Amino acid sequence: MGNEKLKKGFDLESETYDKDRNQTYFTENVRVLEDLLEGRSGKILEVGCGTGMYIKELRTRGHDMVGVDYSKEMCALARMNLSEFGDPTELIKHRDAEESLGFDVFFNMIVIMDCWEFFPNPDRVIKNAYNAMETDGLLVIITVNPWFAPAIVLCEYLKIKKNRPAFHYYNSFRHRTINLVSGFSLVKHIKSHWGMKYIYVFRKEREHF
Ligand SMILES: C[S@@+](CC[C@H](N)C(=O)[O-])C[C@H]1O[C@@H](n2cnc3c(N)ncnc32)[C@H](O)[C@@H]1O
Repeated sequence: MGNEKLKKGFDLESETYDKDRNQTYFTENVRVLEDLLEGRSGKILEVGCGTGMYIKELRTRGHDMVGVDYSKEMCALARMNLSEFGDPTELIKHRDAEESLGFDVFFNMIVIMDCWEFFPNPDRVIKNAYNAMETDGLLVIITVNPWFAPAIVLCEYLKIKKNRPAFHYYNSFRHRTINLVSGFSLVKHIKSHWGMKYIYVFRKEREHF
C-alpha cells in the first residue's frame, strides 16, 4: 500500500504546495483537460488531488469534479479550497488510491496528475480506476517523461530544484502494463512542458478484469 514515508512527506509539503506551484504548467494542464473534456459529460475524479486547485479551476469552468488523496493535510487544504462548491467531505475523500478511490459512482474521466510516479503498486490504482470508470471513459495520466526522471531526481539531490520529500517510484514499464492488462487502450500520447512531461490518455474499452 502507499508508502508511509511519502505520505508524511506530502503532509509536510502541503503548507507550501500552492505557493511553489508553477502557474504556467498549471494553466497548460487545465487547457489539456478542457480539450479532452470537450463533448464529454459526467463526473471527473482526480486521484492524488493535493490541495484541490485543479478541481477548483475545473469546477469554476462548470465541470463536476471531485478528488481523493491519502495525505490528511492535503485533504484538509483541498476541502478548505473547495468549500464554496458544497459539502467538502463529499468532494474530497481521504483514501489511499491503492486501496479505494472512495466514491460510489462511475466516472467519465479519471485524472492522475503528477502522482503516478509515487505509487508503489500502480496496478492497484489502475484496477480501482477501471472499476470506477464508465465504458468509453478516459484515464488521463500526466507524469514525468522517463528520459527526464533521472535528471529531476539529480536536480533535487543537488538542491538545484526543490526536493520533493518523496522517492520517485518511476518505472516506464508501468505504462506498458496499463495498456496490456488493464482493459484500457492508449488513445493519445502528448508531450508537454517542453517535453519534460508525458500525458497519456487511455480509454476504457470493455467490461473486463
Ligand atoms: C505531487 S502532488 C500532486 C497534487 C495534484 N495532483 C496537483 O498536481 O496539484 C501528489 C499528490 O498525490 C497524493 N498521493 C500520492 N500517493 C497517493 C495514493 N496512493 N493515494 C492517494 N493519494 C496519493 C499525495 O498525497 C499528493 O497530494
